[in-house]
Amino acid sequence: MLNIIPKPLKAEELPGKADARGGFAFAPCEWEQDTARFLQYISPSKEVKLPVTAEKDPSLEKEEYTLKVSEDKVKITASCSAGYAYALESLRQLYVAGGGLMPCVNISDKPRFAWRGFLLDVGRYYMPVDTVKKFIDIMLMHKLNVFHFHLTEDQGWRIEIKKYPLLTQEGSKRSHTNFNHKPHGGFYTQEEIKDIVNYCHERHIIAVPEIDMPGHMQAAIHCYPELSCFDRKLPVATHWGVKHDILCAGKDSTMRFVKDVLDEVVELFPDGYVHLGGDEAPKTRWEICPHCQEKIKQLGLENENQLQAHFVGEVKDYLKAKGVQTITWNEDEISGKAPADVAWTVWNVLEKDFNKMYAEMERGRTLINASSVPNYLDLTYNKNPLKAVYTQPVTICKPHEKMVGAEASLWTEQIPTLKRAYFMTFPRLGAFCEAVWSEDMSRNYDEFLARIPAYEKLLNSVGISHTASVKRANPGKLFGALEQLWFNKVQLCWHGLHNLIDNAKVKKKYGKNIHDKK
Ligand code: ACM
Ligand code: ZN
Repeated sequence: MLNIIPKPLKAEELPGKADARGGFAFAPCEWEQDTARFLQYISPSKEVKLPVTAEKDPSLEKEEYTLKVSEDKVKITASCSAGYAYALESLRQLYVAGGGLMPCVNISDKPRFAWRGFLLDVGRYYMPVDTVKKFIDIMLMHKLNVFHFHLTEDQGWRIEIKKYPLLTQEGSKRSHTNFNHKPHGGFYTQEEIKDIVNYCHERHIIAVPEIDMPGHMQAAIHCYPELSCFDRKLPVATHWGVKHDILCAGKDSTMRFVKDVLDEVVELFPDGYVHLGGDEAPKTRWEICPHCQEKIKQLGLENENQLQAHFVGEVKDYLKAKGVQTITWNEDEISGKAPADVAWTVWNVLEKDFNKMYAEMERGRTLINASSVPNYLDLTYNKNPLKAVYTQPVTICKPHEKMVGAEASLWTEQIPTLKRAYFMTFPRLGAFCEAVWSEDMSRNYDEFLARIPAYEKLLNSVGISHTASVKRANPGKLFGALEQLWFNKVQLCWHGLHNLIDNAKVKKKYGKNIHDKK
């Protein structure tokens, strides 16, 4: 058994050991930056170094590599820097697991899926640039290649937009979180965003920004109340939960704002993708908003859900003209109407919807499995146990070439500290990366568990010690139920009650639901 996660496609163990306790001596190659980064993780304890050579082999795919460890040398082949970097990550794992003494091995490896993502929600809790970079390092260690950066939320706007300075001056701060009385805030300047994106690129990771709309916009509405249907003056949200004051899709000024924001966002994120969110957008305001209702009439639409599909479509066309692919969350109510050239991160598809999902791929839609079960890392180990993450069918339903991969998501409502983030992320991220990298046939859960001690040692080597044990990550019934109870309690129903009262107030003030009048 080789201590490498994700498990390589092919690995033949050979007799003998290679001694790298003195570190490595790299022959010059064109991928110096990757070599230098690798060497930072190596701490030699002896004199003699193990020679490493790298050769370019254009016949290999972009992320493919071979790694041959012999007693007296290491040889790597790759067609470009990504494959080379992945070879070094495998080498690093062998090095750390064996304390410098590595098994001789012949590895030939490449990923199963092209899209191997990790979502970081910095809207609920801001994370400093160095913490974000730490997660990007962790991504490379797991051979993940898409950084989904969830930058805007009801509870905080985190990306500087020069044309709308209030978004960060005001929208990045909230007075408290639930009932804790403590202010929270923070944002990334455009220079910091460029630095983060560059950091991703150096690690062969593309950066996909998410500007969530039309829902999850209360922080922006706080700064510019005219973005909402009734120009409501609202605070940056202080409690979790789905908010009802969303962008008004009836006003032309809203679309101008969205396009202005995206103009700056696409300049900062050059990888050709923008995620527009689209999730959890209740239509309680649109149903009674004269602007939205007028727009529905003008466009000959049947309802508010079609208005959302139209809104997404207009922004998608705008981005497409700039050469940018739009992604949204799959939302049931706008399915069927949403343009097929918008890719979906699928987060809440149930088994009964598999046929519909398959039909979307047949229509030409690209899908990414971001299913909350089992790929939300903030959800309890009771809900998403380690075993479920490992054994999931990544394709969700029948394989289709339009299912291009998967994302693990670290939402942060219940994750106020880095320590908690690590505890929820590991070891599940190890299981996730193997699910999305390695072929189904080669995956074996028990054998994966046997590699966990070495995985923990690897995480320890980069300062991550607060991880969940295998037992904790697969809780029994009683403990699982308690954990779930705690999670549900912490989620609080306060926001539900607040929505109920607030919605009644809005309805009383601005009119009845348009559908009630019929
Ligand atoms: C989501 O979890 N609302 C995408
Ligand atoms: Zn409106």
